[in-house]
Amino acid sequence: MARSALLNVMVQAALKAGKSLSRDFGEVQNLQVSVKGPGDFVSQADLKAQKIIHDELLKARPTYGFLGEESEEIKGTDGAHRWIVDPLDGTTNFLHGIPFFSISIALERNGEIVGGVVFNPATDELYTAERGGGAFLNDRRLRVASRRVLSDCVIGCGVPHLGRGNHGKFLVELRHVMGEVAGIRRLGSAALDIAYVAAGRFDGFWEVGLSPWDMAAGILLVREAGGFVSDLDGGTDMIGNGSIICGNEHIQKALAEVVKRPIPTK
Ligand code: IPD
Ligand code: CA
Ligand code: CA
Repeated sequence: MARSALLNVMVQAALKAGKSLSRDFGEVQNLQVSVKGPGDFVSQADLKAQKIIHDELLKARPTYGFLGEESEEIKGTDGAHRWIVDPLDGTTNFLHGIPFFSISIALERNGEIVGGVVFNPATDELYTAERGGGAFLNDRRLRVASRRVLSDCVIGCGVPHLGRGNHGKFLVELRHVMGEVAGIRRLGSAALDIAYVAAGRFDGFWEVGLSPWDMAAGILLVREAGGFVSDLDGGTDMIGNGSIICGNEHIQKALAEVVKRPIPTK
């Protein structure tokens, strides 16, 4: 698998930040049992990871813009390119010592995602994609799962929680989906969840209320693995709209139909 120079820069940034997060994750496991808990420590770990990524990316391409979760957007002098970064996706898992979290880095060119990296430092799984070049998990080429009927499918999702999202609307979506599928999972890192669709582990995934950095890299991974991605309105403005439904061409369509089924009147 040949990677472009740009993708290599993204991979190096993700691996370097991953080392930092892995070290801090070890410490979080100790802090679980302390009275103060690991909250502040995790915020610092998150900021540290973003700084590492920012410095690596900007060192290689100083003129590109940078949209990272942990800071104000930096507009680049090159108006065409922008990095979109979540230095720690799955913060709640990280905070609780659950080894399912990721670093997500995407490159946008003229409004289109052209490069994507999602890295889970706890398992050393590195997902990469370049537009037109396929998607990979480490060195293995990825293909979305081929199941054609929802009744055979395992579907990932996001679940709103205290202070976040529309609980009532989600319960309706869940009620509709749970009646049609073989299983539902909520793993807790949208970037990695979407990468799981690219890897054929999940047959499909949906979530609303996401931010650009949660989805940007994953969208390219799924597309490059032969999958389909839409927002909840059926369009392709996932980043603008904050929602995503993905899977292979059959499951994406079927899942979208079920998720959007109207609220029953009684
Ligand atoms: C969150 C995770 C989670 C999703 C939330 C995101 P964070 O990102 O991706 O799976 O359900 O909507 O905010 O806060 O851990 O970077
Ligand atoms: Ca996130
Ligand atoms: Ca985050």
